[in-house]
Amino acid sequence: MFAAELLKDQVAVITGGGTGIGLAIARRLGTLGARIVIASRQSENLEHGWHSLRESGIDALAVQLDVRKPEQVDEMVLRTVKHFGSLDILVNNAAGNFISRAEELSPNGWDAVIGIVLNGSFYCSRAVGQYMIARKRGGSIVSILANYVWTGSAGTVHSAAAKAGVMSMTQTLAVEWASHGIRVNAIAPGPIESPGAAKQLWDTDEAVERITNMVPLRRWGKPEEVADTLAFLVSAHAGFITGEILTIDGGAWLGRGTFGFLDGK
Ligand code: HXC
Ligand code: NAP
Repeated sequence: MFAAELLKDQVAVITGGGTGIGLAIARRLGTLGARIVIASRQSENLEHGWHSLRESGIDALAVQLDVRKPEQVDEMVLRTVKHFGSLDILVNNAAGNFISRAEELSPNGWDAVIGIVLNGSFYCSRAVGQYMIARKRGGSIVSILANYVWTGSAGTVHSAAAKAGVMSMTQTLAVEWASHGIRVNAIAPGPIESPGAAKQLWDTDEAVERITNMVPLRRWGKPEEVADTLAFLVSAHAGFITGEILTIDGGAWLGRGTFGFLDGK
């Protein structure tokens, strides 16, 4: 599908790149020739991700950080450029989420998710954008949203509000930074197989079945499918695409019409 060296000489930072969708993205960009930085809080996630990338022959660096700490984010950008000599692609993938009724959500619970998703994506985009603007060679930023940016999401008001904020940030930065050759896009996935999300959001067979039935294609997406979409967006194939939100959800958000499926399933 893609030329083997599509991303040769590119350096990509993936926040939350040690697990789930982030690791699939790191592996995909790496197998296309990019050098990879994975960045997150927990050393066990980073070690697991780093070893699995190295086993695939990918040149990778792991950086421990909390995206809620702007000074750690700035330091990560410096380390990346010092280690690999460049930074061309940023993937804002780190996220936190859990199910809570809005009226029961504590201010700390709200702050935790808004801090990781909205503030963290801005801190990372800001630090990387500053670097890309100064070096005058453009770049590409992609944020991972969720398909409920189009609908809201009962049970996860913190995440829905944060992801919608990142969507607006994406559209805003796409225009602000276009003159610097920086493309800014986002992907809005529906349900994707991932142990981290499953633990937080669908830990019973009933929940999995209910969610599957909400997807017109009647299956879950694979992390690799998100990764392939992202590889396209950061590549030269998508050179005229900026400010775009690409939904990858098997038709799930469109399936929410008044009558649902006419066969009742
Ligand atoms: C209610 C909860 C809670 C829960 C935490 N809190 N979990 N409230 N129900 N299940 C509250 C705590 O009580 C606390 O408030 C506040 O949130 C902060 O909790 P901490 O544990 O101190 O936060 P922190 O260590 O920063 O951890 C952040 C986290 C955690 C978001 C709470 O779950 C996390 O680190 N998650 C990362 C991985 C993750 O969530 N992955 C799934 C992404 S999937 P109080 O008031 O008690 O102090 C995804 C998919 C969406 O986003 C799309 C699907 C279609
Ligand atoms: P995941 O494995 O739990 O990924 C979340 C990642 O974020 C972890 O690697 C975690 O690593 C990192 N992270 C969390 N808080 C962080 C912080 N403060 N600083 C730095 N890193 C942090 O779940 P996933 O399903 O792969 O999710 C990946 C992305 O896809 C998220 O943006 C999620 O919202 C989005 N998404 C997922 C689905 C789905 O169905 N799975 C659907 C729509 C959108 P550490 O714990 O090591 O920090």
